[in-house]
Amino acid sequence: MIAPNSIEQLLNVAAVEEVVGDYVSLKKAGSRYKGLCPFHDEKTPSFVVSPTIGIYKCFGCQKGGNSINFLMEMENMSYVEAAKTLAKKYGIELIETGKADTDEYKASQKLRENIQVVLEFAHQFFTENLYESEEGKTVGLSYFKERGFTNTTMEKWGLGYSPGAWDALTKKAVEQGYTLENLELAGLIRKKEDGGYFDLFRNRVIFPIYGVAGKIIAFAGRKMTSTDNAPKYVNSPETELYKKSDILYGVYHAKNAIKAKSKVYLTEGYTDVITLNQNGIENVVASSGTALTIGQIRLIRRFTHDITVVYDGDKAGIKASLRGINLLLAEDLNVRVVPLPEGEDPDSYCQKLGSEGFQEYLDKNEENFIFFKARLLLEGLENDPIRKTEAVRDILDSLAEIRDPLKRNALNTELARICGMDEALLATELQKLVKGKSVHTGKDILEELKQITEAAGVDMPTEPFTDENQERAFLRLILLYGDKKFDEEKGIFEFAMQELANDSLIQFNDPICSLLVSELMANIEAGFPGQSFFTGHPVPEVVSWAAGVLSTVHELSKAYEENYIHVTHEDDNYKQDLVGIFVHLRRKKLDSLIRETIEGLKKEGVDIDEVFLKLEYLNDVQKRIAAELGNAVFTIN
Ligand code: CTP
Ligand code: MN
Repeated sequence: MIAPNSIEQLLNVAAVEEVVGDYVSLKKAGSRYKGLCPFHDEKTPSFVVSPTIGIYKCFGCQKGGNSINFLMEMENMSYVEAAKTLAKKYGIELIETGKADTDEYKASQKLRENIQVVLEFAHQFFTENLYESEEGKTVGLSYFKERGFTNTTMEKWGLGYSPGAWDALTKKAVEQGYTLENLELAGLIRKKEDGGYFDLFRNRVIFPIYGVAGKIIAFAGRKMTSTDNAPKYVNSPETELYKKSDILYGVYHAKNAIKAKSKVYLTEGYTDVITLNQNGIENVVASSGTALTIGQIRLIRRFTHDITVVYDGDKAGIKASLRGINLLLAEDLNVRVVPLPEGEDPDSYCQKLGSEGFQEYLDKNEENFIFFKARLLLEGLENDPIRKTEAVRDILDSLAEIRDPLKRNALNTELARICGMDEALLATELQKLVKGKSVHTGKDILEELKQITEAAGVDMPTEPFTDENQERAFLRLILLYGDKKFDEEKGIFEFAMQELANDSLIQFNDPICSLLVSELMANIEAGFPGQSFFTGHPVPEVVSWAAGVLSTVHELSKAYEENYIHVTHEDDNYKQDLVGIFVHLRRKKLDSLIRETIEGLKKEGVDIDEVFLKLEYLNDVQKRIAAELGNAVFTIN
């Protein structure tokens, strides 16, 4: 986490008109600037930048925000990445809460920088070898040409060649002053028994692996002879810069296309990505032949929720495509599959059909994963009821991973049609599986928390215990202490519901919270419905959340006691906490009212005086709440 005052300082310096101005040609219009919106196609400018308030806003597509938001949107960066990029550009040092000034952190930063420099050098070495050395030209360049890669393609993907000698890179690097230590840390060389070193990549064509921001973080090398039994690809080991499980090959080159098409094609291999790209299909990444990881899925999810798996048509390929997919479903992605004919991979088949033909094939043969799996598993089982039931259960198990109940039910209806079974029966079975998984998720959360606790020692983060935000924290208190007394007359539950009923400022935005609150409010008279209302709730997300909260409290209370004084006393403090949360919820709402009012200033024909009066009033209320907040013990985010 970056310290809030650090962000504030950054936003003051990284002027929005400058940051936007790097991408959009802006014309001054009064105290503001206007230009053509970079986020959607337009002929007349509806994109406005206001230096005084520090924001941009498009009145066409409604996108808006500050300098950091702009970079996030433009470069598909995360918040932290965008903030860091700006900080670097404007020479500001971002302070991370707690972490940034430790020696350990500084050392790791230094290490990353060293590795980056060595990788850049190695890349230059590999490309020079490809284009300029005799060996590179005859072996590497001709290989790439044979595979149909154009010069533009080779340049775009930074392709290179590593000579056959054992130490060509090592020698050249040392000559130029790079240390063996850094070369080894970068994963480029290995130590021999006799203490000397040898190059990891030899007699291979080189595919650099780019991180999301476009920097080289690793290399892969493909062997040139099919005769020896060396592995087809050699990949860099994990380093300080390269975490295999968090990166997908091609993501940097693909991210804009993925966003524009709101869809990504997932393939297996380096050459698949490059060939499709050369044929104009640019929203492609590769999992590099291994099962997908959560980290990779989260990476995709930053750009799109629609993912189409294009895998080899052989049995192994199909198996591979089935393996990672439950994970994709659980991460709330819409998964589709395009099976290729036996013996083809995306690279070979695209070359065969040509770009239009291949795109057509993709469009025509794309199928929802659930149906794909259903067809695959049910094939030939029409007359075998027992194996058919097993297959259906397997498919339901995938379905149960989908979090959105509406989506899940729609697919269940379709599944019933495909396998000719009773829809209601399937729905009941599905519900059981969903519940099983929810509890499972609760356990996972607990496991994760334990790890955090262990890793963090005394500096245990507060978030997992206060839950994602104030709204969740509020419901958490109701879940845990709803049956406790608030004062002589009413219980915690009654007090909370009355506060909500009397206050139009507070609204719940989190879908789960808003659902639960409306259900609870509808039954105020009946009193607190007990913890089973949450743990037995028909919506699985609720059950999963409640399981997480309850198990955390029970299992981690010891850790609380040792590490985190405030929570140790939570049992006594829940009243104060509840009051504190109400103050927070009101302030949050007020913040968004103020923001809305400021936005209103930018509309045409607005009565400025009236808006300013309103702002002054809101600021006043905000100050009073802030004062009140100073007295509240509960601190969230
Ligand atoms: N792979 C790997 N190590 C290997 C074999 C494969 O890392 N020994 C990964 C690579 O990322 C490769 C992907 O798995 O791109 C798919 O493997 P494969 O289909 O065998 O290779 P292709 O990418 O199709 O390469 P080529 O077309 O050159 O055979
Ligand atoms: Mn291939």
